[in-house]
Amino acid sequence: MFKYVGNQLQCEGIPLSAIQKEVGTPTYVYSAGLIRQMMSAYQVADPNAVFAYALKANQNIEILKLIREAGFGADVTSGGELFLALEAGFDPEKIIFSGVGKRDDEILMAFNAGISAIHVESPAEMYVIEKLAAERGLRAKVGMRLNPNVDAETHPYISTGLLENKFGVPIDAGIKLIKYAAESPHLTPTGVAMHIGSQIREISSFVEAANLVTDVAVELKSAGIELNYIDLGGGLGINYQRGESNSAEQIEAIQNWVTQVGEPARDAGFVVKAEPGRSVVGAAGALLSQITFSKNNGAKNFLIADAGMNDLIRPPLYSAHHPILPLSLARGGQSGPRSTVDVVGPICESSDFLAKNIQLPNMQRGDLIAVMNAGAYSFAMSSNYNGRLRPAEVLVDGDSWRVIRPRQQYADLL
Ligand code: LLP
Repeated sequence: MFKYVGNQLQCEGIPLSAIQKEVGTPTYVYSAGLIRQMMSAYQVADPNAVFAYALKANQNIEILKLIREAGFGADVTSGGELFLALEAGFDPEKIIFSGVGKRDDEILMAFNAGISAIHVESPAEMYVIEKLAAERGLRAKVGMRLNPNVDAETHPYISTGLLENKFGVPIDAGIKLIKYAAESPHLTPTGVAMHIGSQIREISSFVEAANLVTDVAVELKSAGIELNYIDLGGGLGINYQRGESNSAEQIEAIQNWVTQVGEPARDAGFVVKAEPGRSVVGAAGALLSQITFSKNNGAKNFLIADAGMNDLIRPPLYSAHHPILPLSLARGGQSGPRSTVDVVGPICESSDFLAKNIQLPNMQRGDLIAVMNAGAYSFAMSSNYNGRLRPAEVLVDGDSWRVIRPRQQYADLL
C-alpha cells in the first residue's frame, strides 16, 4: 500500500506529493486498504473471536468508523476513549474498558453505556465497582485482568505482564477475586484477560501467558464458575525495519498469532477475545515532512525537518526505529550517492530527532520525506510542545483521499 511507482512514493493510488501540495506538512497519511487487510487477517484466523481494537493506538474518528464497519469492537482506556467509541458507533456489547486507574465518573459512564465488560485490575477497583453498582441497584459485568508474570522481552516502557509492572492482578489473587464476584449480587464475572506488553514479535511469551490464563478459566469452571471468554490482549508487533509496506508478511504474523495464542482457549471451549492496536494500524500510516534546512557542523550532517518530537515521539521515547523514505527518487534515485545523517526536528532539545545516523540520498531544503510505520501511537501521542500545531491527518482509500483531521491553527493554542 506504500510503495514507489516510478520515482514517486505512493499510498495506494495516490502519490504522496499530491497530498503534500494541497495539505502541506507535517501531515499523517493513512491507508484504508491496509487497515482493512489487517482486520480481515484477524477475522479470517478465528471467525468466532471478538476483536476489540485498542483505541489508544489511533483514535481519529474516521479511522474508528472504518474499524467499526469491519465488525470490530473497541478496547477503551478512559472516559474520552469510551466517548469516541460510542461516537464512532461501536456496539456497546463489543466495548471493553481496560486500565489501572478508572475514576468513579468513568465507571459510571461505562454502566450507562451498557458496555460488555469492565476489566478490573485490582481488588480495590473491584470493590468500588461493586459499591457503585449496588448504589444504583445494578449488576456490573466485570472481567479480570490477570498479570501472568511473563517476560515479553520488549522495551521496558511497554512491557506490562511482569509483577514489577503496575498492571493486572497476580493469578492467585485473581482467582479469589473472580470467586468473590461470582458470589456478589452486584457483579457478574464475564471472562479473564491478559495483556503482556506491546511491540512483541516473538510468539512464545504470548503462548506461555495464554496457557496460564486459560488454566485459570478451566479451574474456575470446575469450581462451578462459567466464564464466557478469554481475552488475549494486544501486543503483536510490526516490522519497523521495513519502509515500503508488505501486507503479506504482516497478515501471516497476525494469523499465526491468532492461531497459536488462541489455541489453549479454543481447546478449552472458550470464546477468544483480543485487543489489537498497533498490528491493525501501525504499518498503515506515514508522516510526511519537508526538509527546512540541511546543516553540517563539521562533525555531523543534519537534515532539519518540519516534523519533530511533538508530532512523533516514538524515536526518542522508546529508541524506536522508523524508516525514512524520500517522496521522490528523481534526484539520485535509489542507487545514487548517499550520506549519513541525523533527521531532526525544529524543537529546542536534543531528544528531538526522527532518526539518527541513517543513510539517505543527498537531500536539501524543500525536499520531502515520509516517516514510515507511523499509524500507531504516533498522532495519538502528539502534543503542542513548543507551540507547534498538531499535524493534519489524511485517509487514502484506493484512488481517492480526504482530510480526516484538519491541521490545527494558531487560535487552537489559546
Ligand atoms: N490492550 C491493553 C490493555 C493495552 O494496554 C494495549 C496497549 C493494547 C491492548 C494494545 O496493544 P498493541 O496491540 O497496540 O500492542 N505507546 C507505546 C505503546 C503502548 C501500548 C499500551 N498498551 C508505543 O508507541 O510503542
